Amino acid sequence: MSIASRYLLNEAEPFISACYAELGKPEEEAVKRIAEVRKQVDLEGFYTQTYEEISHGAKMAWRNSNRCIGRLFWQSLEVFDARRMKQEDEMAEAIFNHIKYATNNGRVRPAITIFAPQLGYQRIRIWNHQLVRYAGYRTANGIIGDPASVKFTVKCMELGWKGRQTPFDILPLVIQINDRAPMLYELPDGLVLEVPLAHPELKNFEELQLKWYAVPFISDMKLEIGGIDYTAAPFNGWYMGTEIGSRNLADTDRYNKLPDVAKLMNLDMTTNTSLWKDRALVELNASVIHSFKRHGVSIVDHHTAAEQFMRFEKQEQAAGRELTGRWSWLIPPMSPTTTAVWHRGFKDKEIKPIYSYQSSAYDAGG
Ligand code: ARG
Repeated sequence: MSIASRYLLNEAEPFISACYAELGKPEEEAVKRIAEVRKQVDLEGFYTQTYEEISHGAKMAWRNSNRCIGRLFWQSLEVFDARRMKQEDEMAEAIFNHIKYATNNGRVRPAITIFAPQLGYQRIRIWNHQLVRYAGYRTANGIIGDPASVKFTVKCMELGWKGRQTPFDILPLVIQINDRAPMLYELPDGLVLEVPLAHPELKNFEELQLKWYAVPFISDMKLEIGGIDYTAAPFNGWYMGTEIGSRNLADTDRYNKLPDVAKLMNLDMTTNTSLWKDRALVELNASVIHSFKRHGVSIVDHHTAAEQFMRFEKQEQAAGRELTGRWSWLIPPMSPTTTAVWHRGFKDKEIKPIYSYQSSAYDAGG
């Protein structure tokens, strides 16, 4: 047996055992399945997972996501099996359906769409970092839009895409199967839900003309289950407010909006001691939560999310599993010391199944 086959079996067997035990199946069933997997790996060098295996495997991978504070809900993940798809067009269609299902008019539902796994030279990639994201354009007068998207936006334009050069242009979907030319798809009108930002007290806040999209869909990570690599498996949860209010709109290398918010609040920006950044940050975050709620779009504040995470810890303890986590990611980027997560330590150990980063599909250097 080849080294690759041996590796595969080494990963497959413990996964099948754990997965089947968690699903409450009798041990004979796991034993039988492992024998079957062995046979297929021996003959073909790979094995095809059942729907139950990818479905529960994807949930386990969420549960093992050390950077994620929202893991209490890991069992609620909806898993769409798109492994049969061989054409870019039907993949795009499946992705649009995923976006529609997950958005659900604002009542966001966690979901994942799993495309065919990597197999030799067969490899599917979605080039986008997220299915929905805003373009970024480098111009003579600075960057328009999201600076985090500049590289990908250039790629899209090389492929013939033309943005409108507004600060919030939704990027097209880029799908690549094997070494074929990447295919570009504009997201259909009306598919993407967005939330314009207002503030409960600051009446002129709307003049900043800020908005954000309703649902984060990560589309560039690899899902690894039982030794099989799913290189295209976009997934979504719902937003925690600080992701938008403290990072996407506030980071100086993102939308950098704290100075604009501070001006609107007439804060003294000539000195750090006025705490103008901190005060602007709180109100920007308040506007995000307020606006999502007013538009009926699911969002969780960081205090509630931290409480949910501590419940997740109890739940894992009760199930006899050790909790793993990465502290630097779990603490929220606003008032972290006011949450229990701050005052804790976590073991940052990788457990499989797992979602992990993979090299960029379009940028050799990154
Ligand atoms: N932090 C990323 C963003 O702001 C999204 C990451 C996933 N977030 C989530 N709530 N599932 O777009």
